[in-house]
Amino acid sequence: MQVLVTGGMGYIGSHTVVELLENNYEVIIIDNLVNSKIDVLDKIEKITGKRPDFYPYDLCDKELLKKVFMQHKIEAVIHFAGLKAVGESVQKPLLYYHNNLISTLNLLEVMKEIDCKKLVFSSSATVYGSPKELPIKEDFPLSTTNPYGSTKLFIEYMLKDLYQSDPTWSIAILRYFNPIGAHPSYLLGENPNGIPNNLMPYIVKVASKELDHLNIFGSDYPTKDGTGVRDYIHVVDLAKGHIKALEKVLSTNKVDCYNLGTGIGYSVLEMVELFKKVNQVDVPYQIVERRAGDIAECYADPTYAQKELGFTAEKNLEDMVRDSYQYFLHNQ
Ligand code: NAD
Ligand code: UD1
Repeated sequence: MQVLVTGGMGYIGSHTVVELLENNYEVIIIDNLVNSKIDVLDKIEKITGKRPDFYPYDLCDKELLKKVFMQHKIEAVIHFAGLKAVGESVQKPLLYYHNNLISTLNLLEVMKEIDCKKLVFSSSATVYGSPKELPIKEDFPLSTTNPYGSTKLFIEYMLKDLYQSDPTWSIAILRYFNPIGAHPSYLLGENPNGIPNNLMPYIVKVASKELDHLNIFGSDYPTKDGTGVRDYIHVVDLAKGHIKALEKVLSTNKVDCYNLGTGIGYSVLEMVELFKKVNQVDVPYQIVERRAGDIAECYADPTYAQKELGFTAEKNLEDMVRDSYQYFLHNQ
């Protein structure tokens, strides 16, 4: 079966392509490489022994997108492509709305035209805004605090409206919590350019002495130790969740949302301490002001994904912090 993976050269997409190939799906990737590198293709081949078809196209170009659908018999799409930096989205909202919304509209229009109506979409826990209760369930109210989050929420609305208009579509909306870690071959992982915004890549750069110290954004939250609590999930587990979601869309006709997390929240201080212990490195830090827009705690109720998709994250936090650092050490 042929599956199109948009954004398949990126962090989560590349790990998912590996899982797809290992499960004998044929993979076609479209990725304009705006946030990834061409050598990912060789790495995927090295891990799996298979080379997916690759098109370096921008999804905002509908004609090119159509060409790919004409050249293959695509039965389902996993749609990762998008810009994802929250801070940048505040600076450049039109870029985010244009890229994330136009590319998705083009994709849905071409899929409709070709009569390919099975889709798995990358959403984010950011659509829960500031949750009133924990753990977070799929039916909690939705809201956003930045343009990036708004693009995810608007796309969720588009997908639900599309299904309402035509229930022959089958759509899984996956709300990821905080993906970290890397493939155990250490060929694939996360490579942010410049100074990272997110915790794990920042810790890695401090441990490797590229950055002087970690700034911990606030120690006065109402959490176990005052620092922010998040639900970190290993990227390989997350990738496996996509296979389960794909199986679901191939066997049903509905639109549904699933949390992909572990259900366990860890604080920033717990992350730092475990990273130091597992990797035997120092991670100096300073407590600074809270980061604007941050919430105290965010972790999933994973029971619906367990029940409906048969998905349970298997790797623990030790695996995550080890693999994040090892990927860095193997790719300097
Ligand atoms: P990533 O940036 O590594 O991968 C996204 C890929 O999409 C990149 O390779 C990029 O080149 C490509 N792309 C972007 N715009 C494109 C376009 N117009 N046409 C073709 N290709 C395009 O990001 P990721 O971490 O792998 O995230 C994948 C998806 O999951 C994104 O939609 C992201 O918003 C979502 N998500 C990520 C996280 C996270 O923490 N990493 C959390 C929640 C949701
Ligand atoms: C990020 C995204 C969010 C996305 C989520 C899941 C931002 C602003 N938000 O949020 O849209 O849905 O990932 O992928 O990027 N921290 C520090 N020091 C740092 C970096 C982070 O103390 O240098 C703290 C944060 O305050 C937070 C925790 O570490 O408590 C995790 O931060 P981060 O990795 O940025 O993820 P989220 O805040 O969950």
